Amino acid sequence: MGKIISLILSCFILFSCNQEKPKAKSMHTHDHKHHGIDHHSFSKPEEAVSKHLSLMLKANFDTKKLSGSVTHTIKNQGADHIIFDIKNLNIQAVKISNGSTEKEVKHSIGTEESHIGNSLSVPIDKDTKLVTIEYSTTDGASAVDWLEPIQTTDKKKPFLFTQGQAILTRTWIPCQDSPGIRVTYDATIEVPKDLMAVMSAENPQTRNENGVYHFVMNQAIPPYLIALAIGDLVFKPIGKRTGIYAEPSMVDKAVYEFADMEKMLEAAEELYGPYLWEQYDVIVLPASFPFGGMENPRLTFATPTILAGDRSLTALIAHELAHSWSGNLVTNATWDDFWLNEGFTVYFERRIMEALYGEEYVKMLTQLGIQDLQNEINDLGSNSADTHLKLSLQNRDPDDGMTDIAYEKGCLFLMAMEEQIGRAKFDQFLKKYFSDHKFQTLTTEEFISYVKKELIEPEKMDIDLDAWIYSPGLPKNHPTVVSNKFDLVESYLNKHLGNSDWNKEGTKDWSTHEWLHFIRAIPTDLSIDKAQKLDQVFGFSKSGNSEIIAAWLETSIGNGYYKEISQELEGFLVSVGRRKFLTPLYKALKTQGDLALAKEIYEKARPNYHAVSTQTMDALLK
Ligand code: BES
Ligand code: ZN
Repeated sequence: MGKIISLILSCFILFSCNQEKPKAKSMHTHDHKHHGIDHHSFSKPEEAVSKHLSLMLKANFDTKKLSGSVTHTIKNQGADHIIFDIKNLNIQAVKISNGSTEKEVKHSIGTEESHIGNSLSVPIDKDTKLVTIEYSTTDGASAVDWLEPIQTTDKKKPFLFTQGQAILTRTWIPCQDSPGIRVTYDATIEVPKDLMAVMSAENPQTRNENGVYHFVMNQAIPPYLIALAIGDLVFKPIGKRTGIYAEPSMVDKAVYEFADMEKMLEAAEELYGPYLWEQYDVIVLPASFPFGGMENPRLTFATPTILAGDRSLTALIAHELAHSWSGNLVTNATWDDFWLNEGFTVYFERRIMEALYGEEYVKMLTQLGIQDLQNEINDLGSNSADTHLKLSLQNRDPDDGMTDIAYEKGCLFLMAMEEQIGRAKFDQFLKKYFSDHKFQTLTTEEFISYVKKELIEPEKMDIDLDAWIYSPGLPKNHPTVVSNKFDLVESYLNKHLGNSDWNKEGTKDWSTHEWLHFIRAIPTDLSIDKAQKLDQVFGFSKSGNSEIIAAWLETSIGNGYYKEISQELEGFLVSVGRRKFLTPLYKALKTQGDLALAKEIYEKARPNYHAVSTQTMDALLK
């Protein structure tokens, strides 16, 4: 019934569009009338905009609240109000100042809208320079994860971290929370004396006596990149400009794992120009961190699940580092343009990896990425608008856009352009792109005009932009790669699958990526006996490598082989909060018809997850 109605409706819309605009060549000109408008922010920067914010916060681990104030330095472009985004915040007072006299004003909070929260409207005068908001966070601050000591790696002290992207900064700072707006910031953060605070800013390298830390971020960044972590942290350098923050028991392991970080930084600069953020550090967070990594400027936040012990999962560091150009320097204007951040970053990540470890290594990464993409397109539906690079996330959670389309289709699109004009010219183009747009934001449409001007016209390049950007699925003749190493993996698998007589000799030089390809290639109708035999020979369900164990658990559940390894499954789901691992595993249990087990495990695991992950799992298992 609903389908019929929407069919009639869309016929009507199509018809009436045609009536009104008989000459419009494509719907796109019409669709993109609003490009550049951020549907996920209440702020109206063209009227009054925040340029700098100054945070004064105290972290109370007993009440699990951040409280204090934020002072925005604003530019009033002739408005009588300035609007900020807030969500689940407790606003106590608002004051404005022209730089010499301060007065309290009556603010108003708009009604809550789903996903995006509330507007906070503050009356201002022509000469208002500063707006101070006194506030505290609430239990609804989805950005903030407050961890009990038991939830940390060392299990001795509490921990806090924030996650701003996409629209969570407004749950801990009243701000104009749009990626199209950039601010500089400074902060004074008071924490318990035995803990240390770090931010996406200039950071301390040792703990101080009084528990008060000052931060300065002099480069303008979108508010989703403001980040804070507090814990029992130590710092160890890797190179001149690189280092690691981690809990004491973890830091040496991380320094070993990421030993090539300085080289990655040099390779990245060699490719696309100078690193403009001075220092590049990584903080290894407790396992509840919901992502693999988050590119907070100067200080990437990372999951401990990439500490494999053999440096095999460091592409993730290359990825977050690459965001120092694509994303942090040149930023998507709205979340509909998310592929501009992630597609470029995957492409750049692989170029860094190629510079360090060679072409064969990157072929494996790319082939795994293309598999992910194909699965994503199947899941979303090959005609789904969610498979367009340019998204349409109005009235939706921008989180919905975080699929492999942005990442892998975005990367393939850039590879397609590279294929057309050759690497040398494409690199020149990218280098210029980053330098022409540094500290700016871009819509997809602005990118298209730039590409037309810089590449397509001068190079007479033949590329179907419309197919890549505004159409579903994958354009025909998209780039592909074939890894010889993966061919060998497949022939090994096929040779031994029939008799389960696994001869480990053939696998002794395999890297994590070959194992991942192997596990993904296992047929979905393997008998439980055969799955168990495989597991006995290779020890997958006891693997210390998070990617391998996650892939194996997913395959095993699909094959009905999971009651036998329920301890390992539960152990993994309870201790790891990284959403990329959780979603497929709970989904597989559900598909397998064992929602009961999924719910039983989730009940134990849920207290260990960040709100980003519980939001997804709650919806999945409701
Ligand atoms: N910026 C993303 C993480 C993100 C995206 C957080 C959207 C919130 C909303 C980060 O750079 C990322 O892509 N992380 C990936 C790892 C990467 C190697 C693909 C992840 O966490 O899995
Ligand atoms: Zn990314």
